[in-house]
Amino acid sequence: MSIQDILSKDTLSREDIIRLLSAETPEEIELIRSKAYNTMLEYVGDKVYLRGLIEFSNYCVNDCYYCGIRKSNANTERYLLSVEQVIEAAKLAAEFDYGSVVLQSGDRRDEQFIEYVVSCIKGIKDATKSEKYPEGLGITLCVGEQTEETYRRFFEAGAHRYLLRIETTNPELFSKIHPPQQKLEARIEALNTLKKVGFQVGTGVMIGLPGQTLDDLANDVLFFRNMDIDMIGMGPYLPHNDTPMGKQYETTEEIKKWRFELSLRMIAVCRIVLKDVNIASTTALQTIHPTGREEGLRYGANVIMPQITPTEYRKNYMLYEDKPCVSEFAAECHSCMQMRIASVGRSIAYGVWGDPLHFRNKQKN
Ligand code: 5AD
Repeated sequence: MSIQDILSKDTLSREDIIRLLSAETPEEIELIRSKAYNTMLEYVGDKVYLRGLIEFSNYCVNDCYYCGIRKSNANTERYLLSVEQVIEAAKLAAEFDYGSVVLQSGDRRDEQFIEYVVSCIKGIKDATKSEKYPEGLGITLCVGEQTEETYRRFFEAGAHRYLLRIETTNPELFSKIHPPQQKLEARIEALNTLKKVGFQVGTGVMIGLPGQTLDDLANDVLFFRNMDIDMIGMGPYLPHNDTPMGKQYETTEEIKKWRFELSLRMIAVCRIVLKDVNIASTTALQTIHPTGREEGLRYGANVIMPQITPTEYRKNYMLYEDKPCVSEFAAECHSCMQMRIASVGRSIAYGVWGDPLHFRNKQKN
C-alpha cells in the first residue's frame, strides 16, 4: 500500500503506523507532515497554546537510568523553590498571558512534599484570579506516580491536568531503562487512576531509545489511542553523561539526526491517529536541533511550554545534556517563543487555559 493510500484511511492499523514511521524519502515525509498539519487544522485549529514551565525541584526518589536528576547522580546540586517563588513565577505567566502553568519536579511521595504541592496549587489559584482568569491560571502537574488519595488532594486543590509519561510501552525495554522497583504496570495503573479522579491526562514516550524499534513506537501510539489519552508530550532520547545509559551508549551525529526526524514523524503520526488531542513541541526537540520546536509545530504539535523557572535554578534541572534556555530570563524566553512561533506562521492563543478538545469531546459523548 502506498503512503497516500494509508493516509486516506479512517483508522490506521499497526502495520500502517509502522509504514508511516519508516518513511524516508522527502516526498513521503512531506505527505505525512501535511496530512498531520491538515488534521491539526481541522480538529484543533492553528493556535498554539502556552504553558509556563516551572521546574520547582530536582529532588528525586527514582533512579531512571537515562535521567540526569536521578537519585544516584551526586553531581547535581539539589533544590526546592519556596512556595512564594513558585507563586511569583506563576504570576509572571499570568502577566505574559500564558493561561496555564506546568508544575514539574522529580518524584517524591512524602507528606511534606504533597502538602507543599497543594500549597503551590492553592497559592497560584489565589494569586492569579482576575477578571480575565476568574478561576486563576490552569494548572498541569508533572510530579510522578502518587497514590489515588494524593491525586485527589491535588485535583481538589485546583490542578486539572496531569502529565505522566509511560516512557515506553515495551515491558522489556521499560525494565532495561528503569531499576526493578519501577514498574510499567504501575504507570499504566496510575494513568487509569488519574482519569478516574477527573484529570485531563497526558503521557508520552522517549523516541530513539537504544534498542527501541518502530514496532515499539507503533505500539506506543496504539496505547495512547486505547487509553483515550488527552495530551501527548514526547521527545528524542538525549544522553546525559552522569547516567548509566549516557555512559553506556555512544551518540553520533547520525544517530541524533535519526532521532530528531523520527521524533517529528511520531508527532505527525500521533496527530493523524489521535486527531483532537493536545501535542506538545518539547524542549528535547530544541535540544537535538536548533529549530526543533518550530519543526514540531509544523508536524502537528499545538502546545509549547516556555520556561519560567527562576534562572539561577535552571542549570540544576538537567534531565539531559545541552538543555537550552538555561541562562535566559523568563522575559527573554517569552519573546524568543513568540518569535519562533511566528516564524512558522502560527499565532498564540493568549489568555486561555487551552484545554485539549479531546477531553471536552469525550464528555459530550
Ligand atoms: N532524554 C530525553 N528525555 C528525558 N527525560 C528524562 N531524561 C531524559 C533524557 N535523558 C524525560 C522523561 C521524563 C520527562 C520529565 O523527561 O520522559 O518523563
